Amino acid sequence: MQLPTASQAPLYLDACATTPLGSEARAAMEQAQEVAWANPSSLHGFGLAAAEVLERARMQLARSLGASPETVRFCSGATESVHLALLGAAAGLPPGRLLISAVEHPAVTAAAGQLARRGWQVERLPVDSCGRVELEILAARLAPPTRLVSILWGQSEIGTLQPLQAIGQLCQAAGVLLHTDAVQVAPHQAISFESLPVDLLSLTAHKLQGPRGVGALLVKPHVQLEPQLGGGSQERGLRAGTEPVVLAVGFAAALEALQQRLQQGELERLLQLRNALLSQVLELPGVRLSGPHPAEQCRLPHHISVLVQDQHGRPLAGRRLVRELWRQGVAASSGSACSSGGSAASPVLLALGLDRAMACSGLRLSLGPWLEAGDLQRVPGALAEAIAACQATAA
Ligand SMILES: Cc1ncc(COP(=O)(O)O)c(C=O)c1O
Repeated sequence: MQLPTASQAPLYLDACATTPLGSEARAAMEQAQEVAWANPSSLHGFGLAAAEVLERARMQLARSLGASPETVRFCSGATESVHLALLGAAAGLPPGRLLISAVEHPAVTAAAGQLARRGWQVERLPVDSCGRVELEILAARLAPPTRLVSILWGQSEIGTLQPLQAIGQLCQAAGVLLHTDAVQVAPHQAISFESLPVDLLSLTAHKLQGPRGVGALLVKPHVQLEPQLGGGSQERGLRAGTEPVVLAVGFAAALEALQQRLQQGELERLLQLRNALLSQVLELPGVRLSGPHPAEQCRLPHHISVLVQDQHGRPLAGRRLVRELWRQGVAASSGSACSSGGSAASPVLLALGLDRAMACSGLRLSLGPWLEAGDLQRVPGALAEAIAACQATAA
């Protein structure tokens, strides 16, 4: 790892990309590793012990999500969960129209691309300048041949929360299946899957202080899904492959710990931290918000996203800013973790109507429960230094 030149310990402000493993998940996994190392499909006592631990994790996870255990299918993460939801649901339907928003995560656009190659019409619903799907446009497009809708609940790059309840009601009234990617919402909000008008919901553990490599798809009982991997009959025939028991235990423990923190007021604390930092960041010259303003109540509570320009109004490259910020001891991101490897303009920022140069100037700071107000004091100064360094080389 290239170390920052700043004298203080680096500050991690990239919770939307991943989060450090929480102590509750770590402890639960250490314990499970001792007793649940065997294959849960084995018929001997070791296997039965692993199967029991897996089912307990499923029950614990379901409890935290207001779901029944039968609706929970473990898998390797949200990318797999999204593919199982969309490809698995489409496999049982005649090809029709799939609606997605213009600001989906690449996992959804990739699965939609596969369906397009199989004869589905894929339509990207436009969003407003804050990244919200317009409900009238959605309602008008729900007529046949639309059979499937996938809408990202919380957008990782610009923080937009979609009106999922209203979207779900429209889909239900039209008899169209709705999948949502709830990856960024689950770390900050209690979810009650049973009462949500959503048929399929994708989650991953590593965004909520659980381990990497495990996620889940929640499936309402009326939904017919076809497995996407062949082999075993694990996860009630929907996901072949030996189950990651210890990871599932870590996922369930992390989610339960999170629910407890939410009950103790963690959301309010995080909102205060975020709002204070955001107003300081927006005071810096050349920095403006992307995505919804927090006052609009439709922004992820841990999320700050901005566009940055130099003193002449020219957009600065978000990727340069991220490198300069790291020199100042702050770990940030220029967009979603998946797209920040390439140099192309962000498709999400383009969907907001920004030009290509501006759509390269995004910077994201995302907070987590490990932060205290004092930790964040140096962030505005570090960002000012990073901007100055980028301007000096751009001049
Ligand atoms: C909104 C969203 N969906 C899906 C994913 C993919 O999750 P995973 O890494 O578990 O495959 C991510 C992770 O970047 C994400 O932020």
